[in-house]
Amino acid sequence: MLLLQLLLLLSATATNSATASSSSHDGDEGALLAFKAKISSHSGVLDSWNQSTSYCSWEGVTCGKQHRWRVVSLNLSSKGLAGTISPAIGNLTFMRLLDLSYNSLHDEIPASIGSLMRLRRLHLVQNTLTGVIPSNISRCISLREIIIQNNKGLQGSIPAEIGNLPALSFLGLDNNSISGTIQSSLGNLSRLAVLSLSDNYLEGLILAGIGNNPYLGFLQLSDNDLSVPAELGKLQQLEVFALDENMLEANNEEEWEFIDSLVNCSRLQGLDIGFNRFSGKLPTPLVNLSINLRWLQISNNNISGVIPSDIGNLVGLEELDFSINLLTGVIPESIGKLTRLQQLAFASNYLSGHLPSSIGNLSSLLQVYAGDNSFEGPIPPSFGNLRKLLLLGLPNNSLTGLIPSEIMELPSISMFLDLSNNMLEGPLPLEVGSLVYLRQLFLSGNNFSGEIPDTIGNCRVMEFLLMDGNSFQGSIPATFKNMTGLTVLNLTDNKLNGSIPGNFATLTNLQELYLGHNNLSGTIPDLLGNSTSLLRLDLSYNNLQGEIPKGGVLKNLTRLSIIGNNALCGGIPQLHLPKCASFCARKNRKDIPKFLRITIPTIGSLILLFLVWAGFHHRKSKTVPKKDLPPQFAEIELPIVLYNDILKGTNEFSEANMLGKGRYGRVYKGTLENQAIVVTVKVFNVQQSGSYKSFQAKCEALRRVRHRCLLKIITCCSSINHQGQDFRALVFEFMANGSLDGWIHPNLDGQNGHRALSLSQRMDIAVDIVDALDYLHNGCQPLIIHCDLKPSNILLNQEMRACVGDFGIARVLDETTSTQHINSSSTIGIRGSIGYIAPEYGEGLAVSTSGDVFSLGITLIEMFIGKSPTDDIFRYGISLHYYAEAALPDKIMEIADSNISLHDGVNNSNDTRHITRTRECLLAVIQLGVLCSKQLPTE
Ligand SMILES: *[C@@H]1O[C@H](CO)[C@@H](O)[C@H](O)[C@H]1NC(C)=O
Ligand SMILES: *[C@@H]1O[C@H](CO)[C@@H](O)[C@H](O)[C@H]1NC(C)=O
Ligand SMILES: *[C@@H]1O[C@H](CO)[C@@H](O)[C@H](O)[C@H]1NC(C)=O
Ligand SMILES: *[C@@H]1O[C@H](CO)[C@@H](O)[C@H](O)[C@H]1NC(C)=O
Ligand SMILES: *[C@@H]1O[C@H](CO)[C@@H](O)[C@H](O)[C@H]1NC(C)=O
Ligand SMILES: *[C@@H]1O[C@H](CO)[C@@H](O)[C@H](O)[C@H]1NC(C)=O
Repeated sequence: MLLLQLLLLLSATATNSATASSSSHDGDEGALLAFKAKISSHSGVLDSWNQSTSYCSWEGVTCGKQHRWRVVSLNLSSKGLAGTISPAIGNLTFMRLLDLSYNSLHDEIPASIGSLMRLRRLHLVQNTLTGVIPSNISRCISLREIIIQNNKGLQGSIPAEIGNLPALSFLGLDNNSISGTIQSSLGNLSRLAVLSLSDNYLEGLILAGIGNNPYLGFLQLSDNDLSVPAELGKLQQLEVFALDENMLEANNEEEWEFIDSLVNCSRLQGLDIGFNRFSGKLPTPLVNLSINLRWLQISNNNISGVIPSDIGNLVGLEELDFSINLLTGVIPESIGKLTRLQQLAFASNYLSGHLPSSIGNLSSLLQVYAGDNSFEGPIPPSFGNLRKLLLLGLPNNSLTGLIPSEIMELPSISMFLDLSNNMLEGPLPLEVGSLVYLRQLFLSGNNFSGEIPDTIGNCRVMEFLLMDGNSFQGSIPATFKNMTGLTVLNLTDNKLNGSIPGNFATLTNLQELYLGHNNLSGTIPDLLGNSTSLLRLDLSYNNLQGEIPKGGVLKNLTRLSIIGNNALCGGIPQLHLPKCASFCARKNRKDIPKFLRITIPTIGSLILLFLVWAGFHHRKSKTVPKKDLPPQFAEIELPIVLYNDILKGTNEFSEANMLGKGRYGRVYKGTLENQAIVVTVKVFNVQQSGSYKSFQAKCEALRRVRHRCLLKIITCCSSINHQGQDFRALVFEFMANGSLDGWIHPNLDGQNGHRALSLSQRMDIAVDIVDALDYLHNGCQPLIIHCDLKPSNILLNQEMRACVGDFGIARVLDETTSTQHINSSSTIGIRGSIGYIAPEYGEGLAVSTSGDVFSLGITLIEMFIGKSPTDDIFRYGISLHYYAEAALPDKIMEIADSNISLHDGVNNSNDTRHITRTRECLLAVIQLGVLCSKQLPTE
């Protein structure tokens, strides 16, 4: 009986829940479909969202265990979604997790979100959402995490109602445009553990609202306009307190009292008050902060006073940065107790006295920077114990004595060693040859003397070597040529004599060579004129003699300085030096006075001539039409970019920065700090045979070629990586809209949220490509064959104009060779990409302009029919070319990319003129594509 009742009861509830779920079943499915409808591009992830299966098995959707037809989680992070968030999302009332992070969703967060009473986690990181945070988010009473960082455009203030969310523990709104004050209601959030609001426009008192939050451990408020810290000691759980880049002030002891109160925060691990307007004396209670403190950053303020002598109490410190303040006095000896310290920076203060030798105890140190102070006395030899040190910077002080040889034996020092502008003296220790990982050595502006040791040649990866402004003597060691990474060498203003080693020219990375103001004699080695890397050469004020070579850098007056050498002759006519007498024995010293007599007036006339020449050129470039000065002859000034710049700029070649991978290497997005620009960096895979050649070809080609429709090269980097291997990279301007490929096939690469291109956009792009190719073939001397024209090598800028890129396998053809028949060696190796490569290349015919025209034809057809030549339908038998040809002329609208008619509204339009024009345009351009991609080059 009881059993029966139970069964009845069970079946009754089952029926109930079945009816209940079947109605909400439809509701959730409808809401999901409404969500899908607002997504404009989804790289195929939402294809599974169709009625062939239950919505509970759609990708990203999870239904409940108890409420089997209710959606409890929607997780579509990093799925390439573009579009807006449908208000229908508010109907998924059983949802606990909503994660749409790392997509391209735009527009507002719908207010209907307030219906999600069960929502615990709301993650919308890194989209392009705008508008305000809806205030009725406060109705989502289960919310624990609101993480909407990196949307940039989210505005308005933090709704005060957020303070009513009893369970909220994580509020992360960094990197948006949120303004107003930190609402006092946030103080009610008794479970708040992380409050991260950096990079917004918040203002007012930091702690007006918070301070009573017992669990608050991470308070990150960097880069806002917040001011005046108040009572902080209540935050017993505080671990990280980051206030950098605000406008915080503290001018007197009273205002610095917040440090006293922080002393109570025994869990504090990080304190960052850098980049504010703190002034007044550095408070001594600082040394009583938690021994758990790992980083202390107070740089870029106006803080004065002395470093407290008990700074050594902070034994947990790993990073200590006092740079760019007004500190005086000495570095306390107790600093030697901070044995966990990895980074130590005091740069740009008024510190004085000796550098404490106890710094040598800090064996974990990676970086020491104490430049721009008034330190005096010797460099402590104990620094030689810093076996992990990557960089040591002590420039612009008053240090004296010899360089301790121990410093030269630091095994790890690799980034730089900067001792410039001190009063150091004596010889450069032989041990300099132990610095085999060092990239930059700065010794300028000291009193070093003696000969430069031969061992310096062991510094194989050295890129910058500045030794100017010393009293080095003797000759330049021949071993310099072993520093194969050398990019800039400055030996100006020393007492060097002997001749210039001819083997400088074998340094293929050397771009700037300064040897002025020495006593160098002999002739200028011919080979310097053969160097293709050298961009600047200063040989002024030496005793050089004989004929000036005419090649390379010696051709260009503005890159060359040879003034103050009294016995030189020849060179380019603009130098206006005497012709070299044919009988003139270069080393015949008796001739020198004769030259002297000639050259003294020559220097004056040289300057005069240069002014006239420069003025003439100036005027000429204004008045003479561009046609007469073909751009390929204008040499491009390449800014120097070092391996380290690229390493840093690409976030150490991180996956996140990688844009693509190819046969010749990888492509990264990066920034160049010096130039403050976003760039594309193509890093060549040097192990792979052929890539070095490819690099040279690319560099040469791109340095000569400039055109509106060609991707602009910013510079190239030819160096050595940290493993001592050759490193080659090309740096291009960054093209905001990526490759054409991604736009023709919007779903191919999974990430792009591109909209379809209109017909007129496609036409503009096609015209740009044809312009670029025409320029390469007919506007350049010597002409350039691209060899790998295809949509993924065509890039689109912000305005959707096309630039042709990737000259990886382009060859700069000798103008004397005929276009069609080049020696057969040029066909070695595959050129071009499957689908786009001209058929004749497969038969071993040489590269030619016709080959490029074939690739152009295929590209044009692809652009307008939306199918790639490697599409599955072209795998067997019929090719893209024949497919298009067969449709000419009547079926043109059938093969055209359906996105064009959608976009241009041709289908729905009754405007017959519009339809006819569209058809004519498509016909013309596809016909052109077909004509260009004929089987035989002669056709
Ligand atoms: C959401 O729910 C409301 C109220 O029940 C209903 O009117 C609306 O049609 C639903 N929207 C969708 C897309 O299911
Ligand atoms: C519908 O979804 C199933 C998987 O759930 C998928 O295999 C199928 O291709 C989809 N149909 C369409 C037309 O996208
Ligand atoms: C080279 O040294 C000279 C003399 O000290 C200096 O004026 C010049 O700026 C230095 N150039 C470079 C690139 O370091
Ligand atoms: C360095 O240069 C010297 C002289 O030019 C040469 O004899 C020596 O073999 C070179 N050493 C290395 C390791 O290349
Ligand atoms: C250097 O260039 C000149 C012509 O400018 C050439 O005659 C000579 O062979 C070249 N030397 C080398 C070693 O390449
Ligand atoms: C010489 O170099 C300058 C600047 O480095 C450059 O602007 C100029 O075009 C060059 N002239 C020639 C003739 O190469």
